[in-house]
Amino acid sequence: MKNICCIGAGYVGGPSMAVIALNCPELIVNVVDINFQKIDDWNSDDLSRLPVFEPGLDKVLEKCRGKNLFFSTEVEKNISKADIIFISVNTPTKTIGLGKGYASDLKWIESSARQIAKFARNHTIVVEKSTLPVRTAETIKNILESSEEISDFGMLKEPKSFSIVSNPEFLAEGSAINDLQNPDRVLIGGEDEESIEKVSSIYKSWIDSDKIITTNLWSSELSKLVANAFLAQRISSVNSISALCELTGANIKEVTLAIGKDKRIGEKFLKPGPGFGGSCFKKDILNLVYLCNYYGLYQVADYWEQIVKINSWQQERISSIVIKSLFGTLSNKKLAILGFSFKANTNDTRESPSIAISKNLLKEGSQLNFYDPKVNKDAILKEFHENKYNEKLNVCETALDAAKGTDAIIVLTEWEEFHNLNWKLIFQVMRKPAWVFDSRNYLDTDYLRNIGFKVWTLGQS
Ligand code: NAD
Ligand code: UGA
Repeated sequence: MKNICCIGAGYVGGPSMAVIALNCPELIVNVVDINFQKIDDWNSDDLSRLPVFEPGLDKVLEKCRGKNLFFSTEVEKNISKADIIFISVNTPTKTIGLGKGYASDLKWIESSARQIAKFARNHTIVVEKSTLPVRTAETIKNILESSEEISDFGMLKEPKSFSIVSNPEFLAEGSAINDLQNPDRVLIGGEDEESIEKVSSIYKSWIDSDKIITTNLWSSELSKLVANAFLAQRISSVNSISALCELTGANIKEVTLAIGKDKRIGEKFLKPGPGFGGSCFKKDILNLVYLCNYYGLYQVADYWEQIVKINSWQQERISSIVIKSLFGTLSNKKLAILGFSFKANTNDTRESPSIAISKNLLKEGSQLNFYDPKVNKDAILKEFHENKYNEKLNVCETALDAAKGTDAIIVLTEWEEFHNLNWKLIFQVMRKPAWVFDSRNYLDTDYLRNIGFKVWTLGQS
């Protein structure tokens, strides 16, 4: 076992393969993608151009890229050389057809499987790294097995065989390198011991064996969806209580501190906010809802769907609070949006709460100035492409620029630098009364009030 190929050089494929290459210098790791620009960026000498911003990723690439880690668009060639192929392609929610709005769109998985079926040689272990509906391995197996003996021309060809292993990824963006280096667990599901052992042996190069959990294929596939559903459930739970705090005089920070000290509940993942974003929580829960409905478990489906509904409600709720606080209208008002990524320490904007909240504010007639330390202008403007709002949008180089002439600042991403802004100067350049809406409940509200701001903080009255 020497050659690894990963199909998909995205947020998961890039960092996860970089960390394998770092810890397994004896392996050759080829990450392939059909997106030429992305591969160019992965190969760029300028490490600030990497397609994924992750703290520590540049250091890992400096050590392995060009030695045992390669990024390429040569999908076929690298598939044919590989002993193990990780499939790490996108699996978004379907936007058309059967299951639209809920089921995962597996067209990229299918096309990867077909490419593997065609170009793989001898025996190949195919690893599902993407997050998939339970029983997807069956589909992949069908595609692969149909190529095992018969060639395109109906002739017997060089024998090839496949084993399928599920190895979902649990990294979180912004802490991906640390999560990959020190995971809570590695999950490997499969049907044959030898393939499970081969995949385990990669991870055993840097991870203790007792952190490697092996299961059957279906438990592994389902566990990934369930882990994300449980995590998202905590956020919707805490966000629902943030609304109750605002009406009762309780403080969500104090409530989460009090409940989190109970070890059975735990302190992590209890931060209130403008709702979860990111490419996965919503799509994975919707996928779970689809699966439950598919299997006739309608009450179970409704239970999980509520997590997504509360998430959208939180964003509507915050938008309404901004509008009501600014005298019920945003016409001819300029607002500053601080933070566009779905969380701090990433440049990823997929499903960012900033998108939904900004759209709500635009509908009320406001102009918006944006500032995010890592998200570039194009990435922000592309979210509003269809909405004909272009003349109302302005992307700024600094938070101070974004604040100029605005009535309110809405902090939507918890970037560390927002703590240390020159808030006194910001106050001076704003129209009065000057508002700060802290949707993450993390700024020093007393300090801001002393400067003269009117302040609304999530989960406090
Ligand atoms: P991504 O969109 O960043 O990357 C996927 C890449 O696959 C794209 O660059 C795309 O061009 C490429 N691709 C698609 N079809 C291809 C093909 N046939 N051949 C070659 N390349 C192809 O997606 P991502 O965020 O890396 O997520 C990938 C999977 O991992 C998803 O299933 C996601 O649910 C799961 N996941 C994501 C995260 C995360 O933090 N983003 C964490 C855990 C799991
Ligand atoms: C999440 C999971 O944490 C990972 O384990 C999983 O692998 C990944 O999804 C995936 O499958 O894609 P990620 O979306 O990168 O990772 O980031 P999280 O840290 O989970 O944050 C998700 C969203 O929840 C963010 O918008 C964040 O601001 C929000 N959040 C998180 C809160 O509002 N409160 C919290 O306490 C934690």
